Amino acid sequence: MSNLKVTMDTFIRDACENICGEAAGRPVLCALSGGVDSAVCAVLAHRAVGDRLTCLFVDTGFMRKNEGDQVTAIFRDTYAINLIRVDAQERFLAKLKGVIEPERKRKMIGEEFIRVFEEEAKKLGPIGCLVQGTIYPDIIESGADGHKQVKTHHNVGGMPLAIEFESVIEPIRLLYKEDVRQCAANLGLPEAFVNRQPFPGPGLAVRCLGELTKHRLDLLRDADAIFREEIEKAGLQREIQQYFAVLPGVQSVGVRNDERCYEEMIALRTVTTEDFVTANTARLPHELIETVAGRITSEIKGINRVVLDVTPKPPATVEWE
Ligand code: XMP
Repeated sequence: MSNLKVTMDTFIRDACENICGEAAGRPVLCALSGGVDSAVCAVLAHRAVGDRLTCLFVDTGFMRKNEGDQVTAIFRDTYAINLIRVDAQERFLAKLKGVIEPERKRKMIGEEFIRVFEEEAKKLGPIGCLVQGTIYPDIIESGADGHKQVKTHHNVGGMPLAIEFESVIEPIRLLYKEDVRQCAANLGLPEAFVNRQPFPGPGLAVRCLGELTKHRLDLLRDADAIFREEIEKAGLQREIQQYFAVLPGVQSVGVRNDERCYEEMIALRTVTTEDFVTANTARLPHELIETVAGRITSEIKGINRVVLDVTPKPPATVEWE
């Protein structure tokens, strides 16, 4: 057994003891986002308090393809955790109808998320403790602990501090992302969770520029799934920290079945980085890019052009909005 494993196993044992102590027999709530941080928190909390834990997963409709079903399958079926999945897709789309300004979009999604979360939490009756997946870089980026504020949307743990719980437990607040992944591996979470790419809180909404509609989100979801599948088929997923599709909201002329078409465009974004503060783009094999472009334009009706984003950060951010 390596020292790292011993250290992480000790961390897990201590974290569970702390959660158990802080919960002090009360019911515990944990918000699951689909990412590795909240997944680790949910499993730690489940080990600590068992059936007193309820997990809440708000499906905003901005998740990647099949992601909501995967979350449900793993936590409800494999771990037998009490999981409430809230289907809020239509509610989010209705709220965001006609909104195109990026900061407003982000703010509205954050606020709506809080509202849904509060409503659902209230339905559960009094819950003393909230477990949230704040990690150390969240604290730095949020401007807490005296650090400079980087982004308004990187609110600590992605959760509002306005919701009142008697205790907020943050079991992984001192861990960096790599430690969280190690913790996830030690807890036996599936590989897909352990190595899950970072995914913004507002999800695909910040990669779908312009108005959010079910149709446009589905185009993006399908293109994104193809891109990720091909990167993974080529075995490049460990070398590229993020790879995803963007729907920039640009339409252009093309030819489909010998007829003129005017359809949307997909941009492919990759980043290689150590800290996400600066980033480069990955040098993908050209054959791979062609395969992805060919599949996207032939399998998805409504996309007739694919471009590659080769901009480092800075000046471009990883996300497009
Ligand atoms: P940017 O776009 O700022 O992204 O270069 C840096 C990293 O942060 C992720 N990101 C977010 N993560 N909530 C998050 O938890 C957010 O709202 C959010 N926005 C961007 C982005 O995917 C990249 O890994």
